[in-house]
Amino acid sequence: MDFFEAIDKRASYREEFDGVDIPKEDLEAIVKAGIKAPSGYNHQTTSFIIVTNTELKSKLAELVPTKAMKTAGAIIIPVSSYWEANNGLSFEIEDYAASVENIMLAIVAKGYAGVWVDGQMKLDHTGDKIAELIHLDKGFTVRAVIPVGKPVKAVPQREKKSFEERARFIE
Ligand SMILES: Cc1cc2nc3c(=O)[nH]c(=O)nc-3n(C[C@H](O)[C@H](O)[C@H](O)COP(=O)(O)O)c2cc1C
Repeated sequence: MDFFEAIDKRASYREEFDGVDIPKEDLEAIVKAGIKAPSGYNHQTTSFIIVTNTELKSKLAELVPTKAMKTAGAIIIPVSSYWEANNGLSFEIEDYAASVENIMLAIVAKGYAGVWVDGQMKLDHTGDKIAELIHLDKGFTVRAVIPVGKPVKAVPQREKKSFEERARFIE
């Protein structure tokens, strides 16, 4: 799929998936897109847990009980570790966001759909509960969950403000 076609087709999908397993090579290709993202000082503070285990997926769906989580072929969990450069700068959040957007586009390019669920991690200590469930090493933070699968419903694009409203040239 052409890059700009993937950009145009990407939209958050929160409905059911078809329940079919996703081939491991597709998941690897999707997550490799995240790994190739830029990061501050190339420190690569984001890592990825790819959950295909049925029992663990169900437990994750209990913590984030949405249609997408309950039927996802895989749940990708980006996790990050704090790192600070000598000058005090740190880019943990920016690194994570850059890698997740690459992943969201790769999901579309491979013919799947998904949704970037970050907000819910910050409510009711959900991120900490997920960290415990997946036995996450100390020093890492769960940033999001991304349920992925083949959508069974349409994936409508949300309205975006126009170029004129959000951008301008200085010539
Ligand atoms: C940082 C961030 C956090 C988000 N957190 C959630 C979330 O917790 N739950 C959810 O359903 N969607 C979440 N989303 C998806 C947004 O709601 C979605 O991108 C937005 O409504 C625009 O729709 P679109 O992705 O279809 O263009 C998040 C997106 C981003 C970038």
